[in-house]
Amino acid sequence: MAAALATDDLTKDYRVGFWRTRPYRALDALTLQVQPGEVFGFLGPNGAGKTTTLKILMGLVFPTSGRAEMFGRPVGDLHVKRRLGYLPEQPYFYDYLTAEELLIYFAGLFGYRGADRRARASAVLDEVEIGAERRRPLRTFSKGMLQRVGIAQALVNDPELVILDEPMSGLDPLGRRAVRALILALRDRGSTVFFSSHVLSDAEALCSRVAILARGRLVTEGRLAEMLEFQVRGWDVVVAGVTPALQAALAARATRMTAIGDGRCAVELPSMYSPETIAADVASAGASIVSINPIRATLEDLFVQQVADAARQVERR
Ligand SMILES: Nc1ncnc2c1ncn2[C@@H]1O[C@H](COP(=O)(O)OP(=O)(O)OP(=O)(O)O)[C@@H](O)[C@H]1O
Ligand SMILES: [Mg+2]
Repeated sequence: MAAALATDDLTKDYRVGFWRTRPYRALDALTLQVQPGEVFGFLGPNGAGKTTTLKILMGLVFPTSGRAEMFGRPVGDLHVKRRLGYLPEQPYFYDYLTAEELLIYFAGLFGYRGADRRARASAVLDEVEIGAERRRPLRTFSKGMLQRVGIAQALVNDPELVILDEPMSGLDPLGRRAVRALILALRDRGSTVFFSSHVLSDAEALCSRVAILARGRLVTEGRLAEMLEFQVRGWDVVVAGVTPALQAALAARATRMTAIGDGRCAVELPSMYSPETIAADVASAGASIVSINPIRATLEDLFVQQVADAARQVERR
């Protein structure tokens, strides 16, 4: 089966400057595949090239070189467009229309007619929890409400692939939770979701796989669980029945050690000690293990580290 979305060496140079323009590489040889049914997080700091990539996929910006395909067809293919939903980074609508009128208009563009058209508009507004205010002009909407209208618009054609540029931006905690639920509902329906974000907790809560982009380059990609597993930095061990001899032995290896009381100790050990050897050492001293937990990097740590590495590489070039 063709990938829902694939890019191959996708590169974009913008012309910058006024009198003498020079190229600025916003996207540098991006190769990426998103499989059908995945929720894929496209992460990176400001200016990484996320929106540029999404605009290329939507045919709004032309790549300098490389290719992008969706469902095995090139960008701009009409059959693909019909199966695609898109939330732009800054959705801009005719603000004298009401939310309902706008969605009816978009439903019409996708071929819905008559009663179906109204029903479709109403269904997507329900999905993003725009209530009676749907009969108010959009110019009276708050940023978060407009964002929801933007998401409704992206879903109006019941798309198989949904491309969302910062879907959580401008949303309050309830709104974020609603959008998360919506993305998971899309996945359960079998749709593919490709969304950009710099909010890592959203990616942690939603994605099967993520890619991290920095300064136009792909710095890492993979299953979130596996990426974090690679990053076990040590072990958090709680030991009971600690003798003075064991305490001294643990202290010599620990990066941190805290007495909890009642002969219990919390010990942070570096990753070079395996949980098996830790358990064996503790048992042979007559003490017992209450818990062993891996200390993992969070996505936040990974993100900061990768971005710093990318910056260093760029400086070296
Ligand atoms: N039309 C343009 N002309 C020139 N440079 C541009 C243009 N659009 C974007 N850029 C530059 O390309 C780089 C990538 O921008 P892009 O908008 O793709 O980043 P982003 O990852 O979406 O960032 P953010 O998280 O802030 O939305 C930035 O350095 C930006 O200044
Ligand atoms: Mg952007």
